[in-house]
Amino acid sequence: MTEDLNGTVALVTGASSGIGEATARELARRGAAVAIGARRKQRLDALAQEIEDAGGRALAIEADVTDADQARRLVAYTAEHFGRLDTVVNNAGVMLLGPAVDAPVEEWDRMIALNLQGLLYVAHAALPHLLAAAETEPRRVADLVNISSVAGRVARQGAAVYNLTKHGVGAFSEALRQEVTGRHVRVSLVEPGAVATELVDHVREEIRARVTGGLDKMERLQSEDIADAIAYIVSRPRHIAVNELLIRPTDEEG
Ligand SMILES: NC(=O)c1ccc[n+]([C@@H]2O[C@H](COP(=O)([O-])OP(=O)(O)OC[C@H]3O[C@@H](n4cnc5c(N)ncnc54)[C@H](OP(=O)(O)O)[C@@H]3O)[C@@H](O)[C@H]2O)c1
Repeated sequence: MTEDLNGTVALVTGASSGIGEATARELARRGAAVAIGARRKQRLDALAQEIEDAGGRALAIEADVTDADQARRLVAYTAEHFGRLDTVVNNAGVMLLGPAVDAPVEEWDRMIALNLQGLLYVAHAALPHLLAAAETEPRRVADLVNISSVAGRVARQGAAVYNLTKHGVGAFSEALRQEVTGRHVRVSLVEPGAVATELVDHVREEIRARVTGGLDKMERLQSEDIADAIAYIVSRPRHIAVNELLIRPTDEEG
C-alpha cells in the first residue's frame, strides 16, 4: 500500500547534500512538489534543475534555519509559492564530536542552534500549514519527519552534546505527536546509523581520524537508503502512522 504524492508539497531542510538531497529527489520522483532549503544556494539550484529536468517541480530557497526569521520565511515562501504544505522533513543537522572536556563551546552552540533550535523554528512555522493540509484533499493527512540518529537513542562519550540534541529531537517529536495526531498530522522520527555523507567532514581534524576509523570497517548506508525510508513513512495511507524508524548498516554493532 503506497500512495503517490501527486498534488502534495514537501519542504526538505538541509537539502544541499547527503540525506536531504536524496530525500528531495525521491519525494519529487514520487510526485511531490519540493521546496529545498539550505545555505549553499548553488547546490540547491543544481538539484532543483535536475528535478525539473526529470519532470518534477522544485523551488530552491537559501536559508540558514538557525535564524528564526529565515526559518519562518523558508516555510512561508514554500507555502506561498506552491499553495500548501503537506510534508516537512526537518533534516538539517551538524555533528561535532569530541570529548566534552576542553571542547570548544562554540561547537556546542552550533549543534544546539541547528539540531534543536533550527528544527524547532521550522516545526513551529510549519505546523499551521500542516494542520490545514491535513484537513484537505488529496490526502487529508500531513507529515512532519524529524531526523534524529542512533545518537538519539544511545549516549556515548565523545558525543555528549550531539547526543543531547538528538535525544531532544526524540522527546519533542513524541510530545508533539500526541498533540497533533488526532488532527491527522503525523510526527515521525527517523534514526539513522552511519550514512556516507559530508556529516563527518565538519568534525575537528584531530578528532576526525578517531571517528572515521571505525566507519571504514563497515558498509555504511547511502543517503538514498534513508530517503527511501522517509518516502515510505510519508506515503502511508491516512490511517497508518510510522512513528519511529531506527535504521543501521547491518554490520554496525553499536
Ligand atoms: N550521516 C550520518 O551518518 C547520520 C546519521 C544519523 C543522523 N544523521 C542526521 O542526518 C541529517 C542530515 O545529515 P547528513 O548526514 O545528510 O549530512 P550533510 O551532508 O552534512 O547534510 C547536512 C545538511 O544540513 C545543512 N545545514 C547545515 N547548517 C545549516 C543551517 N544553519 N541552515 C540550514 N541548513 C543547514 C547543510 O547545508 P548547507 O551547508 O548548504 O547549509 C546540509 O545540506 C542530520 O540531522 C544528521 O544529524 C546523519
